[in-house]
Amino acid sequence: MQARDLVRSVKAVGSVRGRLSLRSAWRTRRTDARGLPGPGAERARVPGPAEGADPQPGGGVVRFARSSLRVRVAAGGAVFCGWDGAAPEPSYALAGACPDADDRAVLEPDTDGGWRVVSERVTVAVSRTGAVEVRTPGGVVLRRDLPPRWWEPAGGDAGRADGDAGRAGGTAGPRWEQHAQVAADARFFGLGGRAAGPLLRDGAYRLWNTDPGGRFGPQDDPLYLTMPVQLVVADAGTHLVFHDNTWDGEVTLRQGAEGGGSGHDRPGRSRIAMSGGALRYWVIVGAPPRVLRGWTALTGAPAVPPAWALGPQHAVWGSGGEREVRQVLADYRARHLPLTALHLDIGHYRGHRVFSVDTARFPDLPGLAAELRGQGVRLVSIIDAAVQAEPGDPVYDSGVAADAFVRDTRGQQVRGVVWPGEAVYPDFTDPRARAWWAGLYAERLEHGFAGVWHDMNEPVSFAPFGDPTLPHSARHALEGRGGDHREAHNVYALGMARAAYEGLRALRPDERPFLFSRSGWAGLQRYGGTWSGDVATGWPGLRASLSLALGLGLCGIPYSGPDIGGFTGRPSPELYLRWFQLAAYLPLFRTHSATTAGHREPWAFGAEVLRHAAAAMRERQRLLPYFVTLARLAWRTGAPYARPLWWRWPQDRALRDCEDAFLLGDALLVAPVLAEGARRRSVRLPRGLWYDTATGRPHRGPGSVVLDAPLSRVPVLARAGAVLPVAGEDGGVELEVWAPAPGRTGGGVLVEDPGDGWAKARVSRFTVRTREDGVAVEREGAAEVGFPVRVRGDWAAAPSRRRR
Ligand code: GLC
Repeated sequence: MQARDLVRSVKAVGSVRGRLSLRSAWRTRRTDARGLPGPGAERARVPGPAEGADPQPGGGVVRFARSSLRVRVAAGGAVFCGWDGAAPEPSYALAGACPDADDRAVLEPDTDGGWRVVSERVTVAVSRTGAVEVRTPGGVVLRRDLPPRWWEPAGGDAGRADGDAGRAGGTAGPRWEQHAQVAADARFFGLGGRAAGPLLRDGAYRLWNTDPGGRFGPQDDPLYLTMPVQLVVADAGTHLVFHDNTWDGEVTLRQGAEGGGSGHDRPGRSRIAMSGGALRYWVIVGAPPRVLRGWTALTGAPAVPPAWALGPQHAVWGSGGEREVRQVLADYRARHLPLTALHLDIGHYRGHRVFSVDTARFPDLPGLAAELRGQGVRLVSIIDAAVQAEPGDPVYDSGVAADAFVRDTRGQQVRGVVWPGEAVYPDFTDPRARAWWAGLYAERLEHGFAGVWHDMNEPVSFAPFGDPTLPHSARHALEGRGGDHREAHNVYALGMARAAYEGLRALRPDERPFLFSRSGWAGLQRYGGTWSGDVATGWPGLRASLSLALGLGLCGIPYSGPDIGGFTGRPSPELYLRWFQLAAYLPLFRTHSATTAGHREPWAFGAEVLRHAAAAMRERQRLLPYFVTLARLAWRTGAPYARPLWWRWPQDRALRDCEDAFLLGDALLVAPVLAEGARRRSVRLPRGLWYDTATGRPHRGPGSVVLDAPLSRVPVLARAGAVLPVAGEDGGVELEVWAPAPGRTGGGVLVEDPGDGWAKARVSRFTVRTREDGVAVEREGAAEVGFPVRVRGDWAAAPSRRRR
């Protein structure tokens, strides 16, 4: 036991839950000692020399002496590589059936004795020893994967020590590693939610969803939502590589260096080492918007949140009952602050039990929900993954009847410790368990909840030492294939999200489900979004909040945001305000904290903060039509609402390294204040003309400008030519048009909110031109613009003739 574990253990003894968790941690250790294979002799293997190749649709299989590699280019251009017979399916990441092969792509002999597959967007070259190069059609190498290496138990069976424990299958297979080289100038992003990004520095990143234990800062890694997705941005091109493998693993990154005059570049390096499972991966090549489009085509379109989930929201722990909830709302109303949703944390549960209500404190939750809804405020419920192990409790009993809970290798229920005490865990990799869980959401709907907030689903079991999750030997159905927690852990929350999404769709078919989840994996966006989790209060936590939102967006999960003010402690008024101002431009705009961390309502930090926070909220409400548009565009194209500055300019190296600003859609550049005391800040601009929205002054990029950042606001710039849909005074949509530079054109999109159901949204496209007599706005395919237009930016001073 390490010193840190010892401290955690001593602390644990002080409370009932602590003692339970100490016992549970010992039990987990014993269970795994019994249920997991011990370390044994291993034999290393490499592919060996190539011996031949068999063409197949979209590519083919190259046979090596000790392995084989399948290369398959899919329609749309994504490349699949699978070693040792690995196929694209089954996969937790893929949204539906594996995309069809691109029949035009054929495997052919290469000049050096290897093979290659040439397709429209990418060429894949396989060397005689099993190195795989991904090249642009022009022949530039974007990525070179060296021949992999496997280690298998010398005895032959790579799997468990226990043989079969009632559910067949589930051997680890060999562990493996693969090294890759990328361009010397390449930068790495992604790997899920990482607090120290969004640019991923040299170092090792574990792929294992982990609750950092109630707080985290930039130094903590891994966190709740990891995934083996790397986005590599280089001068020669951008590509995404996804290793479709749910096992525990590690990615090690090392940026390259350019040799300058010597011409000896040191390539960037990335190594992935997985403890089991298939060696198979996808590569998607193209400009960043294209890559994200390809990625979400593969793993699913991001669910579109209802408009109310794009407004200002607040979470209430709930111990104060209905009175507290009413009071909070009354306090918002008294100050004329907008609010679209209130989230109820575990305080509203009976004894912290999921799918229960403390009726002493919430005697009429449906009534309260209806009352709130009448005022335009929805209720969102926290849902914890674990169920209190208590015979007689209806949730527990029905789960037992459905045989839904995870068991150990001896067939016993696995027990852990979470908020309610001793708890059992639904096996979300089991379709039957998912179906049972899906039905439980009926209870939430009956109580009037409009959305759900999934928590503790890494999954967590409080543990004073060891891994705070289930025993790694715990058995899972894995869709009938059978296996253990080492394989199921990272997709546990994904399965929970799927169950909830499918349940909500079936129970309330007329409304789009709204859910967000602390943990997840590749593909979570099909069901919902996420949030920062327990980010530590402090300036580093503020930075981490931005890192997480940007990194997750690049991995296909566009809807997220932080606990404003941090989860853990009392922020200074200034820190709170800067956090608030950042989150006002992120999809999830929510104040929340630990119950011990004090209030997070905007009036809790003095009159000045309240004034400025109110302004941020009003601006957010004004931007609502833009957020609704961005949500739809994310669904159509995979583009995250909040994007790194290099999104459209990946060749601009300074932008690749810029981590303190972001683009909100195509129209806005947001430069949050992340440093204490700052009242001005330097802002890096992409090329083109950008207006400071506060002053209307234009600035020309690329380059840096220093802008005022008084406490009252953070710098926000608008791209010249942008059409920004905003809410007008009367609540209707207006177009705020930022004048294009003379001689230039611009444009934008508006997707109108079709409501919370499935109705098709109306999409309007606008073009903007400068003419001698001003700025002209036109709507594609229509004689009239159809919306009030307001032209802004210096060039707008010229008289404008608009077609209305
Ligand atoms: C976890 C969540 C946090 C929540 C708390 C109590 O720490 O991350 O958001 O408030 O549990 O439910």
